[in-house]
Formats: sequence, C-alpha cells, structure tokens
Amino acid sequence: MMNDLFLRACRKETVERTPVWYMRQAGRYQPEYRKIREKYSLLEICERPDVCAQVTTLPITQLGVDAAILFSDIMVPVGAMGLDFDLKKDVGPMIDRPITSLADVNALHPIDPLHDLPYVFETIGQLKETLSVPLIGFSGAPFTLASYMIEGKPSRQYLKTKAMMYGEPAIWFALMDKLADMIVTYLEAQVKAGASALQIFDSWVGSLSPFDYEQYVLPVMQKIFERVNQLGVPTIYFGVGTGSLLSLFQKTGASVIGIDWRLDLATASQVLGKEQVLQGNLDPAVLLAPFEEIEIRASRIIEQGKEIAGHVFNLGHGVFPEVNVATLAKLTEYIHRNSER
Ligand code: CP3
Repeated sequence: MMNDLFLRACRKETVERTPVWYMRQAGRYQPEYRKIREKYSLLEICERPDVCAQVTTLPITQLGVDAAILFSDIMVPVGAMGLDFDLKKDVGPMIDRPITSLADVNALHPIDPLHDLPYVFETIGQLKETLSVPLIGFSGAPFTLASYMIEGKPSRQYLKTKAMMYGEPAIWFALMDKLADMIVTYLEAQVKAGASALQIFDSWVGSLSPFDYEQYVLPVMQKIFERVNQLGVPTIYFGVGTGSLLSLFQKTGASVIGIDWRLDLATASQVLGKEQVLQGNLDPAVLLAPFEEIEIRASRIIEQGKEIAGHVFNLGHGVFPEVNVATLAKLTEYIHRNSER
C-alpha cells in the first residue's frame, strides 16, 4: 500500500493529516549514516545503488516520514557536464577550475543522464520497487549551481557570481541556458525512472534583490518549470531567505513553494493567496530546543498550514548534524497526531 499523502497535499486534494518530510533527512545526524560514511565518501554512496537506496530509505523507517528524497548532491550532474568538483568535508563543493569565461561555459556539455549517471537511475529503479512512500527527485537551480561553478567554493557574498551577472550578462545567460537544459534533461530522466515529485533547490538565490532576480533568474526558472511541469508530477521550488522574492517565486510556475522560517506560513499565504501550496518551515535550529518548545512552534505551523489549499510540513532548511534522531522521530509522530482533519 502506497502512502500518497504527500502527493495529495501537493495537488490540493483532501488529506487525513499533514504530510511531512525533512530536507537532509539522510545525513550525519544519523549514527547509521556516519557508519556508512566511514567506509564510503559521499560520492561513493551516490555511485553505489544498493548503498544509496539504503541511505535514502533509512529516514522512512527510522522517522516515519511521508516522502523519500533521492540521496545525491546538487553537484552530481555538474560533474557530468565536464566540470570536476570535490565535496570537501564540513565545507561543501569545491571546484579547481571555476567558470570565468564564455569559453568555459561553451566547454560544458549537455548530459546524457542514463549514460553519464547510470547509478542515479538504478537507485531510483530499486527504490521504486521497495518504497512505501513517494520518491522526490531533485536538482539544483541555475543560480545556486552557478554560484558554486563561478566562486569555486561555498560563498557568503557571491561577489564573483554577481560580478559576472552584472558585468558579463552574455556569459551569465549562456550559463543559465546550459544549466536549464541539463536540469530539464536530468529531472525528466528521474521521473521516467520512477520519481513522483521534483524539488528544485535554489538555496542561495535569496542573496539577490527582487529587481535582479526578475532580470537574471526568473526567465530561466520559468523556462525550466514550463518544461518540467509537463511531466505531470508536483514541482517544488525552494530557497533560503527568499521572503522578498515570494511573488516572483510564484511566477516561476512551480506547483509548491518551499519557504524558510524567517516568514510565517500565514504571512506567505497573504502574499501568495490560499490556493498556493506551501512547504515548510520549522527553523532547523529549533530541533535543538526542549521538546515543549519544538511542539509550540510545530503546532503553529500545522494550524497555519490547515488554512491553505495544501501544506507539506518540512524544516526551513536541512537537518543539522547535531540533531538527535529521537527528536526528529518524535516530531514526526507529533505532526501526524496533531494534524488530523
Ligand atoms: O536527505 C537529503 O536531503 C538528500 C541528500 C542531499 C544532499 N545534498 C546530500 C549531502 C541533498 C538534497 C543535497 C542538496 C544540496 N547540496 C544543496 C541544496 C540543499 C541545501 O542544503 O541548501 C546544496 C546547497 C548542496 C551543496 C552541498 N553539499 C553543501 C553545502 C554540503 C555541506 C557541507 C557539509 O559538510 O556540511 C554538501 C555535502 C552534503 N551533501 C552532505 C550531505 C548529506 C553532508 C554530509 C556528508 O558529507 O556526508
């Protein structure tokens, strides 16, 4: 029997209770994950379908969440475009030869998902047979991917990225187009292999003003969602610190908008209307608070979510390694018990 609560909430259908999953629900907060990481690097996990499927599935059995998210990283398909990267422990993606010129952009090639990344689709195929909940496929968004490709490492100010955007718009838009084609191809292949929903992570796009988002990012996001929405599965668009970009996020065409904790769900729905399905938005740092404090904040989110056409409970960003598995399992149970309709 398939638990399809998550898909029904995304489609604004009736639900018996609020579905929940957590960004980075597979990761270092789990002792079992840390054990596997002693043996394999993150990318080695991604490349071994058995291990990858096991890591993807663990939060479902351990926490009781209503959706699984493919275990991978947003940088994986960037490697297939011909840009070598490394995932540095406790830091993130590192690139030796970042993108600086049009020649660098032109050297990136289109991906052939099944040929270049066969293990991703083998993992999805295995998961399709075994999961009792929907599988979310994902990709990074052009701005967030470009920020790593241009800076060469995680960044706070995105100075090189913005300098290229403002000063070399032809290079910027060429890069956006290349990434858009990769993203659409990659997401299409994930759905064909068995993903039942898609999330596009634009984690760092909240660093842009609305004026710049509209000019340099919105057109490429519209192009992506126009194509990806034809796949017939729910599409989620998520970013951190994007409260000032909300109405522009809605213009992308994504079916679900993911928000962080800096904005109440109720405030977001005042801007977007009650028909807009939302995902979010507990501050992941709250998971380090006493459970009574977690309950207060979770129940507010549940109640605000009941007022809109569809709500998927999530964190406002990924689970921190410092969180206890037991806390997250207890929260999941709390949400299930306290959101019944
Ligand atoms: O459970 C899941 O959410 C699925 C797995 C997943 C990972 N990365 C695994 C991972 C997903 C969806 C991602 C996406 C991703 N990767 C994003 C977008 C989401 C977000 O967090 O904003 C970004 C920005 C990246 C780039 C990246 N990869 C960063 C910034 C880091 C963190 C560096 C660190 O060590 O804290 C990574 C590494 C990474 N990707 C880890 C995991 C579980 C860290 C743990 C490890 O090294 O084993």
